[in-house]
Amino acid sequence: MIPLRILGKHWLKIMLPLSAFGLFYWIWIVPPMYQGYKPDQPIAFSHKVHAGEFGIDCQFCHATAERSSHASIPDTATCMKCHQEAASDSRDIQYIRASYKKGIPLRWKKVYDLPDHVKFSHKPHVSKGIECAACHGPVHTMDKVEVHTTFNMGWCVNCHRENYESTQSHPPGNNATIRLTECSTCHY
Ligand code: HEC
Ligand code: HEC
Ligand code: HEC
Ligand code: HEC
Ligand code: HEC
Repeated sequence: MIPLRILGKHWLKIMLPLSAFGLFYWIWIVPPMYQGYKPDQPIAFSHKVHAGEFGIDCQFCHATAERSSHASIPDTATCMKCHQEAASDSRDIQYIRASYKKGIPLRWKKVYDLPDHVKFSHKPHVSKGIECAACHGPVHTMDKVEVHTTFNMGWCVNCHRENYESTQSHPPGNNATIRLTECSTCHY
């Protein structure tokens, strides 16, 4: 640290811009620490096979994305709709069946995870017609789900700014553009 006495009464003039830059850096340019994150899962479940090759709709398994804040992770009963029959020889499938019989849920590792101070809901986005891929990338080509974007605050805010036009239909006095980029829209 620079001893403040040396700077005399000008220290505030120097420290203020420095800390402003620090905050700016922290929020906007901080290295995208989530991008590329793709944890191993207990079962080698492949989106490439299910959503890609077999073309199963995303919302068949993530049914609540359009109506609630969280996109549900399918329970084992959803898998069993097909895997009573499909891929019987596979050890993974035998494991799924055994755990289903015992009523033990699979423990998937969370891939996309916002800090607790951030408010996010799928509902306004998905019901507005924003594709899953706009935020999650080409999941239907991934064997293992991988965080595709920078997934930091700048990513959210940039898209909210770009969507200025599409939100202009809101009545005046209820300015959606301001609301979309206001801190309290995304923070508690
Ligand atoms: C506007 C961006 C955006 C769109 C569009 C979007 N997601 Fe998400 N998704 C996120 C964010 C952000 C998280 C992390 C939420 C958290 O940690 O609270 C997430 C988390 C998830 C999760 C983990 C469970 C959860 O809700 O935390 C699943 C599964 C998921 N999304 C699937 C989907 C599917 C399927 C679609 C399309 C129907 C979709 N998402 C559309 C941004 C988006
Ligand atoms: C709509 C039908 C369907 C659903 C629902 C489904 N699967 Fe599959 N799954 C398949 C088919 C078809 C294959 C490919 C079988 C093959 O290659 O012979 C497959 C393959 C797999 C494999 C690879 C098996 C191997 O070792 O070759 C795993 C693991 C798997 N599924 C897990 C799951 C899990 C976990 C769920 C639930 C979250 C699920 N599946 C839901 C149809 C489905
Ligand atoms: C057959 C069921 C099935 C289908 C179809 C499916 N998913 Fe998933 N999805 C899962 C399961 C099971 C997990 C948890 C394991 C994992 O992360 O791979 C998951 C995880 C995810 C995650 C990561 C959730 C987290 O932990 O943050 C995202 C994002 C996601 N799916 C998006 C999609 C999108 C987009 C589509 C359509 C292109 C899709 N899924 C289609 C079953 C499915
Ligand atoms: C791909 C573009 C896009 C991305 C990325 C995105 N959003 Fe949005 N978001 C929108 C649009 C467009 C709306 C307005 C929907 C409407 O008009 O009802 C919205 C609405 C919202 C709302 C509801 C606002 C309200 O009060 O009506 C919240 C909360 C929100 N977003 C949080 C987030 C967060 C947090 C992130 C990042 C994790 C994020 N969004 C990323 C496009 C995006
Ligand atoms: C569109 C949604 C959105 C808006 C609007 C928004 N933030 Fe954030 N903010 C986020 C997300 C998402 C994160 C988490 C980023 C991460 O974990 O890297 C975050 C993180 C932060 C952090 C912690 C930085 C960090 O690296 O964890 C601070 C401080 C912050 N925001 C302040 C603000 C202030 C001040 C405003 C208003 C000028 C604001 N935010 C507006 C979405 C938003």
